[in-house]
Amino acid sequence: MQDFDAIILGAGAAGLFAAGEAGRRGRAVAVIDHARRIGEKIRISGGGRCNFTNLSTAPDRFLSANPRFAISALRRFTPRDFLARVEEAGIAWTEKAAGQLFCEGKASQIVALLQRGAEAGGARLMTGTAIAGVSREGALFRVDTDQGSLRAPRVVVATGGKSIPKIGATGIGYRIAEDFGLPLTDTRPALVPLTFAEQELARLAPLAGVAVPARVAAARGPAFAEPILFTHRGLSGPAILQVSSYWREGEEVIADLDPGRSLAEALRAQRQSAGKVQLGNALARLMPEKVAGLVLASAGLDPTARLADQGNAALDRLAAAARMPLRPVGSEGYRTAEVTLGGVDTDALDGRTMEAKAVPGLHFIGEVVDVTGWLGGYNFQWAWSSAWACAQAL
Ligand code: FDA
Repeated sequence: MQDFDAIILGAGAAGLFAAGEAGRRGRAVAVIDHARRIGEKIRISGGGRCNFTNLSTAPDRFLSANPRFAISALRRFTPRDFLARVEEAGIAWTEKAAGQLFCEGKASQIVALLQRGAEAGGARLMTGTAIAGVSREGALFRVDTDQGSLRAPRVVVATGGKSIPKIGATGIGYRIAEDFGLPLTDTRPALVPLTFAEQELARLAPLAGVAVPARVAAARGPAFAEPILFTHRGLSGPAILQVSSYWREGEEVIADLDPGRSLAEALRAQRQSAGKVQLGNALARLMPEKVAGLVLASAGLDPTARLADQGNAALDRLAAAARMPLRPVGSEGYRTAEVTLGGVDTDALDGRTMEAKAVPGLHFIGEVVDVTGWLGGYNFQWAWSSAWACAQAL
């Protein structure tokens, strides 16, 4: 006997949205989560204001072993579609950086929107309920929990990734995939601060707390022109988080600390107009003083020397030093990572329904799937789009 049309595992962004959409279609669903409070990650997202989508959403803003997989879901449920829901709910929003939409008020408004949607559709929200496992029982799936077992012809795995275990991430979705013989791609922390060996950290540490515009690139992937933030543990800030999704151990990251202009030319112009100034002061007009100190030290130049005494070769050396090669040794890991890169291999899923091709009735949505967005609202958009696509098939 089935208890529900579908059982959704995980009351996060994807699970709650799927529950509401399935309810709209008249499906009886249960949503199970071991956390006492639903949507915890939404609540802490975007600095408490939830960057709930990005109007520039396009497939190239996502990392996946199959970059084409996300296209269908992203086209069928777009950022404008989610924005319409936000507006319907009377939630005031604001566009911060280009395309990045945040709540004007608290992120908990998005949680409330999702909860209302799920409840309006009649979903049964079962919080404080730990999932032990999923198995087949004839034509149904059986979900075992610490409160007993439930049965349904469809199960939706929306248990997210491994990031921030402190607020409930367990990675159980990967285990469920494996239990059903589905392939996984390698998982690793992403959108995460990078850490450095002792010597390099000692060089960077005096700058802790300084943020500076930069253009940062790893050996693969695009360059990100966004701020970086020096911290006591290494480097953070949007550009570093973005690049962390592309960086691999042993590789360098190049941080251009004076992006968008020729530093050598700017210094040559100063040399003509105010050559008596000390080199350190001249550079500090173009970037934060402490960063200027770091660049001068990297170039082996004396900050007290007169700008007028520097030849073009020295200024070129300085400009080259501002394109700083950095050698991270690791990241802060899942403790602070915003997302998990990798996950359930998209080759095993149908991109229209998120259903496992080899296990009819078993769906995977949201972060557990090997689709990882850039920083900037893309990961929530993936949660909404994949959940919506899945819900049409429940
Ligand atoms: P999500 O993690 O939201 O939900 C999974 C649910 O499954 C959780 O409720 C969890 O308790 C439950 N669960 C896990 N294991 C379980 C088990 N064994 N038994 C029962 N339940 C279990 N993205 C973005 O687009 N804009 C932003 O502003 C931010 N900001 C941000 C800040 C921080 C600090 C973090 C950590 C992350 C972000 N993100 C973000 C990323 C975004 O939060 C993330 O991509 C989505 O929440 C993923 O949605 P899911 O529903 O897939 O997982």
